[in-house]
Amino acid sequence: MNKELAELKNKCENCHKCHLSKTRTNIVFSSGAENSKLMLIGEAPGYWEDQRGEPFVGKAGQLLDKIFNCVGLSREKDVYICNTIKCRPPENRDPLPEEKSACREYLDAQIEILKPKIILICGRVALNSMLPDAQGITKVRGKWFDGPYASKMMPIFHPSYLLRNDSREVGSPKWLMWQDIKEVKKVYDELN
Ligand code: URA
Repeated sequence: MNKELAELKNKCENCHKCHLSKTRTNIVFSSGAENSKLMLIGEAPGYWEDQRGEPFVGKAGQLLDKIFNCVGLSREKDVYICNTIKCRPPENRDPLPEEKSACREYLDAQIEILKPKIILICGRVALNSMLPDAQGITKVRGKWFDGPYASKMMPIFHPSYLLRNDSREVGSPKWLMWQDIKEVKKVYDELN
């Protein structure tokens, strides 16, 4: 692991800035390619992520793998994945504002160290953290926004939402995700 990221991970492992440190099994720092042009920011670790110390390892993660694979991207080699907060909220509830603000410095540092060219903001909770003034996820998904360090950010649906909406009809959440990921791949390929 890159030295700066390793130091940051170590800081997270020793973090007790909010009460989630009392109930976590593991911190969930990141997975994937540290030199990637593409970063995905999810919500928060769930049960399996907390157990394994890795983001998106449950059902939503399996769907995320498929989505990336569909456009020829490998989750391990092409995408750096992290979350807005590094510890699991009990019962998988939404992270509280104080948990998000306590953890924010770690997310900001990950972005600063990696300087990804594209940031995918995955779902409502991440949208709220990254673009607090934006309209809801269904309105802004698929749109490009200016991000930190000259990056482009795109909100996309969370895979858990897609798991609850099975239709693939034109205009359905799964169909919209397919349009979004194709657009992401196009811009990804255009980067030098
Ligand atoms: N959902 C998320 O947003 N992040 C994870 O790591 C797992 C599920």
